[in-house]
Amino acid sequence: MESTRSRLAQRLAEAGQSHLVQFWDELTPEQQAEMTSDLEAMDFQEINKFFGSAMEVSGSSKQEKMDTRMEPVPREVLGSVTRDRDCLKVWEEEGLRCISQSRVAVLLLAGGQGTRLGVSYPKGMYDVGLPSHKTLFQIQAERILRLQQLAEQSYGAKCCIPWYIMTSGRTMESTKKLFSRHSYFGLCKDNVIFFQQGMLPAMDYNGKIILESKNKLAMAPDGNGGLYRALGTQGIVEDMDRKGVKFIHVYCVDNILVKVADPAFVGFCVQKGADCGAKVVEKTNPTEAVGVVCKVDGRYQVVEYSEITLATAEKRSADGRLMFNAGNVANHFFTLAFLRDVVQTFEPQLQHHVAQKKIPYVDTQGRLIKPDKPNGIKMEKFVFDIFQFAKTFVVYEVLREDEFSALKNADSQDGKDTPTTVKHALMSLHHRWVLNAGGHFIDENGTRVPAIPSLKDGTDLPIKCEISPLVSYGGEGLEELVSGREFRPTLVIDESGAHELVKNGV
Ligand code: UD1
Repeated sequence: MESTRSRLAQRLAEAGQSHLVQFWDELTPEQQAEMTSDLEAMDFQEINKFFGSAMEVSGSSKQEKMDTRMEPVPREVLGSVTRDRDCLKVWEEEGLRCISQSRVAVLLLAGGQGTRLGVSYPKGMYDVGLPSHKTLFQIQAERILRLQQLAEQSYGAKCCIPWYIMTSGRTMESTKKLFSRHSYFGLCKDNVIFFQQGMLPAMDYNGKIILESKNKLAMAPDGNGGLYRALGTQGIVEDMDRKGVKFIHVYCVDNILVKVADPAFVGFCVQKGADCGAKVVEKTNPTEAVGVVCKVDGRYQVVEYSEITLATAEKRSADGRLMFNAGNVANHFFTLAFLRDVVQTFEPQLQHHVAQKKIPYVDTQGRLIKPDKPNGIKMEKFVFDIFQFAKTFVVYEVLREDEFSALKNADSQDGKDTPTTVKHALMSLHHRWVLNAGGHFIDENGTRVPAIPSLKDGTDLPIKCEISPLVSYGGEGLEELVSGREFRPTLVIDESGAHELVKNGV
């Protein structure tokens, strides 16, 4: 015990982190044991190195001059659901064919802390208040089930889309429990694979690790780009290989409209021979909090909303659109071969991004201080930082109203990206699916509601309508259920048919 302690003390001293044990004598034996095992597991030399290079990059003039080095995505790498309408069917068939051969996996990034939403549980467990009260996880699981079914129907072969879910130390247990409580939402348990990303300590500006209490370090997940290290350390690349996976669709947990394993996106990337692809929507507001896909020094990357200057974000092309308008919706395509190269070769070259934060800490007297201005940094890698290594990179542009509405913030009046806005986005999409399939809506007087509802009492509420993903993945298969019929909202379409819900329940 004593020798473990002195070895640890020496390691801490060598790394300039001895302050971490300044309250040692005040800790209970259990707290000491827990802290010893936390500290033993840490590679301080590596953490100090990360800090040094992250601070160097973030403070350098190279970063400030990024604007002058940015170029928009060239037309030749761009596919678009609106401009390339003729190719859509072919891309979709190609994607479905790959799915039917069980060559496509989906990978969910769910290790974030949901700080802005302000919930203590994983964001995927959030119920945005749909008539069905499905969580984001359930919606995604059911889309996977439906897509497997569509691929099977088209190609007559039984198939599976493995679902890899990356969580962090803070979200793993509750995520696993939810899935097990809901019997994996009908998916095969063996095809839902959880793995954990790494954590890094928060540091002050002098490179000292911050203590959040006398016996605990301030730790945070290492960013969604922590994915690549985790893919290696947790044997995920090998698992994919064993399962025969060739293509991976990576996405974020918060987009309620996400088309998991989108066959058209997958098919587009496969047909273009791409090893890496990004889905984008047109960014129309310069201050929207989305990164932009572009080239910097001739290499593809996303310039994050926190890293672009307003002047550049506001630049317009001759046609009046924003010059940097390829808004990143955090849906990426990778081949397994590319991911393997990343894990084996490129991952260590990725630099951490620095986020300045207000980090609660204990001072030398052991008092808990909650700073009112940033007092330190968190270091994160970003999932898109590997675009620069792609041999063939493509970009796929989709319609925002069909595919992107993200849950970031708690509800507030006129709030953006809130439970209310994402619920409305989903209902509005499903409303359009019903209209396109020949159904109609009527109001309480039996009068047909116009396709574009007028603003009533100054409110802009969508028609209440929810379609289970088990019935339709992308608007298909609804004609026989709704064509020529009139519905009074709330309309719910699920495996047992189309039902109107009356107030106070069913
Ligand atoms: C992200 C994108 C941004 C894009 C926007 C669209 C990144 C770095 N930025 O920004 O370019 O325009 O989505 O909505 O991708 N996560 C982890 N581990 C972590 C941190 C986050 O798995 O350590 C996951 C979260 O659970 C979430 C996703 O990554 O699913 C995105 O995280 P978030 O911090 O919400 O990203 P944004 O800042 O919104």
